[in-house]
Amino acid sequence: MGGLVVFLPLRRSALKSYPSASLQNDIVRKYSKGIRIPTAVCNIAFDKKIVSIPDFLPETTFHMLREVVDRLDQSERVHIPIHKRGATISYHDLHYCAPEIIAFYLSPDLHDWFSDVIGERVQPTPLNDLSSCSLLIYDQPNDHIGWHYDHDFYRGRHFTALLSLVNTGKSAAGLSSAHLMVREGHTERVIPTPPNTMVLFEGAYICHSVSSLQESERRIILSMTFCTDPTASTVQTWERRIKDVAYFGWRALWG
Ligand SMILES: [Fe+2]
Repeated sequence: MGGLVVFLPLRRSALKSYPSASLQNDIVRKYSKGIRIPTAVCNIAFDKKIVSIPDFLPETTFHMLREVVDRLDQSERVHIPIHKRGATISYHDLHYCAPEIIAFYLSPDLHDWFSDVIGERVQPTPLNDLSSCSLLIYDQPNDHIGWHYDHDFYRGRHFTALLSLVNTGKSAAGLSSAHLMVREGHTERVIPTPPNTMVLFEGAYICHSVSSLQESERRIILSMTFCTDPTASTVQTWERRIKDVAYFGWRALWG
């Protein structure tokens, strides 16, 4: 990605401190009880390195996450000319404004589900990776992201999971015009993302984009990353942090 990166703080509260491991443990203790993850993985093939599961979560867990999103009033807008427009709430900030989402991301049952589908054991990516778990918010016309791969900055295989929480607009079935697209050879395919759809893919192999949001539409995605081995070389770590500057600002360089 290139070009000028512009950060536009929106409804932003004061920056919180770096979340500690003990804060994370407290969050898991307090917010994990109500989380329910599907247990059965019935012949879901991951041979194409992407799967999409509609109606992924039981209704109670999905509504819990949806209510958390409804109460949020902070996000940071990022504009990378041509490539990306939209708002995000980083992994660190979610610890303070949406601990329920952190408990969901750290749920062992969720890791079991992804590991079963992928066929290898995966775990969350590190606390210092601001993309580990983040909310991607499209709420202004032309919010989008261009074609890209999710580069792997770890020694292990790296996976992205996108859970659609909000998707409303003027497109078919009342969904927004912000379509998740993937390239397969010379063709492009839309992956439908109505609310409660989980899309899991190995981003180093799947070229993807999201088309532009239109006026009066809204799309909020919970983005989570997992890895078979979350260790990284010093060079990989700095490459990832520099990438995160484009999405979360200069604080991605420290912590
Ligand atoms: Fe991506």
